[in-house]
Amino acid sequence: MSAIETKSLTKSFGNVIAVNDISFSVESGEIFGFLGPNGAGKSTTMMILTTLLKPTSGQALISGFDVMTDAKKVRESIGYVQQETTVDEYLTGRENLILQAKLNHIPKNEINQRIDSVLELIELTDKQHDSVVTYSGGMRKRLDIAGGLLHRPKVLFLDEPTVGLDIQTRRKIWKYLKKIHDEFEMTIFLTTHYMEEADQLCDRVGIIDGGQIQVIDSPKNMKNAMGNEVISIIIEDEENLDSFSSELQKIEFVNKINVDGPKLTLFASNGTEVIPKIFQISSDLKIKIVSIALTQPTLDDVFISYTGHEIRDDDSKFNRKREHAKMKRLRA
Ligand SMILES: Nc1ncnc2c1ncn2[C@@H]1O[C@H](COP(=O)(O)OP(=O)(O)OP(=O)(O)O)[C@@H](O)[C@H]1O
Ligand SMILES: [Mg+2]
Repeated sequence: MSAIETKSLTKSFGNVIAVNDISFSVESGEIFGFLGPNGAGKSTTMMILTTLLKPTSGQALISGFDVMTDAKKVRESIGYVQQETTVDEYLTGRENLILQAKLNHIPKNEINQRIDSVLELIELTDKQHDSVVTYSGGMRKRLDIAGGLLHRPKVLFLDEPTVGLDIQTRRKIWKYLKKIHDEFEMTIFLTTHYMEEADQLCDRVGIIDGGQIQVIDSPKNMKNAMGNEVISIIIEDEENLDSFSSELQKIEFVNKINVDGPKLTLFASNGTEVIPKIFQISSDLKIKIVSIALTQPTLDDVFISYTGHEIRDDDSKFNRKREHAKMKRLRA
């Protein structure tokens, strides 16, 4: 039995189709990630899977329980760590966890021992008696994650677990998540718009854009499928762009081209053979190349290849949009 299974899952808000006919499954014990830009439908999918939103159509099962007809059983088998931190700043770390344990109806005689073990796991034992107001962003997130583990869920959902955190803190959170996964043999479903997070943490990744899944595979397979090399070109002006791109497409060893304004990305199986030909064509067409780079494929390149655009990592814009969507949800 799969830990998560969806069949043609769809969610519309008026005429916005936030999640559009999504079918996928996550096996027990996997770390699975949804990678996509702002507004892709990641949080909406997660809210359906955690029973907080009803789908417009389609089906979703968690550990075999239907989110619509067996919502209570679903809630008992999952942990959910929201994107916004939910801890109370004026309580200590431990007091927050006691509150969480009571909300989750954990037997009284087990509360202390369970809290001790999660605090140890996320290395907050030393800080447990300090008010959360003194915690850093990374420590608050760790406390949030600890709260989601107290009732020992089979499936842990994390919505953008490291958004807004600096890269060192982000790496620490990845370390804790791997530890949690190994220790509790837990299935983890997370959403992210960070390439590196998907690459480092996930066994399999679903690229989601415009409410639809573009591809699902392991990061390694996705990168391998791109060919051996990626050539990124920026040209000075876009006047002869169409003829340039169609000539480049004809070069032997070029598998695919993406054009995003003055930036062209070529996926090639033999980059060193291709580069001299690029210069020949640009010179024939009188196109000035501002920069050209030959690299190994990254998940970023995979994303471009499937969606035709880059995943934009602009946290300020991200937060504004997210706040706006949250307000809309509150009003709805
Ligand atoms: N309650 C709502 N009412 C109307 N539209 C909504 C609502 N919730 C989400 N949407 C819209 O659905 C689409 C998907 O939103 P969702 O929050 O699922 O995206 P996301 O991938 O989580 O994005 P982000 O990276 O910004 O968190 C967006 O166009 C969003 O504006
Ligand atoms: Mg979201």
